[in-house]
Amino acid sequence: MNDPLAQRLSLALGSSFTLEGEIGRGGMGVVYRARDERLKRGVAVKVLPPELAFREEIRIRFLREAETAARLSHPHIVPIHSVGEGPHGLVYFVMAYVDGESLAARLKRRERLPPEEARRIMMETADALGAGHALGIIHRDVKPDNILLEGSRGRTVLTDFGIAKALTSTTGPGTLTATGVAIGTPHYMSPEQAAGDREIDGRSDIYSLGVVGYQMLAGELPFSAPTVPGLLLKQITEPAPNLQDKSPTCPDDLAACVMRSLEKEPEARWPTAGGGGGGGGGGGGRVCRVSATNRGLADHPRGHPAAAPQNSGARLAQRRRVRTLRACSRRVANQRWSRSFATDSSPGRRCAAD
Ligand SMILES: Nc1ncnc2c1ncn2[C@@H]1O[C@H](COP(=O)(O)OP(=O)(O)OP(=O)(O)O)[C@@H](O)[C@H]1O
Ligand SMILES: [Mg+2]
Repeated sequence: MNDPLAQRLSLALGSSFTLEGEIGRGGMGVVYRARDERLKRGVAVKVLPPELAFREEIRIRFLREAETAARLSHPHIVPIHSVGEGPHGLVYFVMAYVDGESLAARLKRRERLPPEEARRIMMETADALGAGHALGIIHRDVKPDNILLEGSRGRTVLTDFGIAKALTSTTGPGTLTATGVAIGTPHYMSPEQAAGDREIDGRSDIYSLGVVGYQMLAGELPFSAPTVPGLLLKQITEPAPNLQDKSPTCPDDLAACVMRSLEKEPEARWPTAGGGGGGGGGGGGRVCRVSATNRGLADHPRGHPAAAPQNSGARLAQRRRVRTLRACSRRVANQRWSRSFATDSSPGRRCAAD
């Protein structure tokens, strides 16, 4: 391969692995396909881009988060086999190769999915998130590119668990790092992530999964805007349009499940993603299992999230977020970030400055 990064990676991996080619690249790295010669199996290797890897604190955090994510062992999470470093700040991790396509690729081909397929993908992803949350690991970047569908059955496997945290700047998620990379992907960012809250929890991932669910069922995203600040403002303030208006064949319980995931206030969303007591191992996440007869859900106004009861504390928190976002937008505009994204705020694109 002519790619200098691939050549450096090949040297770092040594003779135990043969690099076979690039699979793709995102804002946080380049993923290569390789063969583990000892164990005679295909693997995928993710390398931190050199412009990020040259910063020692990012490198250390990347390795630490990969180690944390490697503790996750779950049928719907891509297993991480090892992490490693090479010369000149090269950092990478080796994970299982998933033979299939990403949900992003599937949605590009088919635009929207049948409700039962969307439900299964949501349940399996929720189950995976629940397993991470139980260990205190928040994904922070749930989006169709990070949801892989394996083989003919399309088993869901979630990748990049917790990796976004490694690149979080000290000024908080949702803002620019010194290297020009913001954490999270604006179309899928929860209101609290968009506002730059430091302390987010698993309910932020539930919101992002809600956006993915909405997209699978409606064939379009709940929020779009020509600029990133405009999009973040919508994530924080604008109720998601009613899913069943866009997808009339979507069953009531599934639509209600997605709409509740998309509540602006974390307290109004599903409290947990995973199956809870005995739910693991593909048992289905709380998020999608609840039927319309479930008490909590039946109590909850379905359809328009604006109708959800908001106490004054929640309203205050919302106002604080709007203020934070305005300040954030001003900062962002100063860094010419909005200009660079005025022409590219396509879904799945991570924020990167020009
Ligand atoms: N374990 C894997 N097996 C097979 N393909 C993978 C694996 N991990 C990632 N990919 C694919 O590699 C490509 C690049 O992934 P990468 O994570 O670098 O980018 P991304 O998900 O688009 O953006 P981000 O950097 O925000 O995660 C994607 O198309 C993804 O589907
Ligand atoms: Mg990814």
